[in-house]
Amino acid sequence: MSGYFISIEGIDGSGKTTQANLLKRKLNDLGYKVTLTREPGGVTGAEEIRNLLVKGDQDRWSSVTEILLFFAARRHHLERCILPALDSGSIVICDRFTDSTLVYQGGNNPNLIKLINNLRELVVKREPDLTIVIDVDPSKSLSRGLKRKSKENRFELFGLEFQEKANLSYRSLSKELERCHLINGKKNIKDTHESIWKLVSNHINSI
Ligand code: TYD
Repeated sequence: MSGYFISIEGIDGSGKTTQANLLKRKLNDLGYKVTLTREPGGVTGAEEIRNLLVKGDQDRWSSVTEILLFFAARRHHLERCILPALDSGSIVICDRFTDSTLVYQGGNNPNLIKLINNLRELVVKREPDLTIVIDVDPSKSLSRGLKRKSKENRFELFGLEFQEKANLSYRSLSKELERCHLINGKKNIKDTHESIWKLVSNHINSI
């Protein structure tokens, strides 16, 4: 039996993490085995790389180095968590995956999209079966994100224009890729969860 791989995407403060938790609970209640994980991170070594990425000065890394760090963390996460969980028949819910690199790092620097796509083919190879993109108002989600006063705010500090661009890139990905579905996240938590559940239940009923 092979599992099912769901990624949840959206800009900072879009409510992905809350929705990932609600989705896990719903699936568990129905008896599904679920692995909830996140990027960058998810397993010890990758969480160590996460610290290098989400904290500190904005110009801490060159663009290429930053992409390599995201992919190093991702490869480790795949090897140690995602692939074994899928092999054991689990539904994997991952809070961000390669689309985040395409949107955040590629969106900021289109010259790097080729590198990202090459790394995706060479070291990731596994695409999610279903990607949920939570669509929100960038100014609201940014202020929500910054209110958390987390030290993990290196990307939030890039500002509103950056988040607006990221939101637009997510919208175009959802148009381009069949596995990617845009969910209206401007509603309350419960309504957003219901929209996500409608989508997910349609997909897992057919596996
Ligand atoms: P995350 O923990 O999902 O933050 P939040 O819960 O605020 O959305 O992700 C941490 C930051 O890392 C986030 O600002 C987006 C950024 N990021 C990238 O820039 N590229 C990537 O490939 C990934 C996975 C995350």
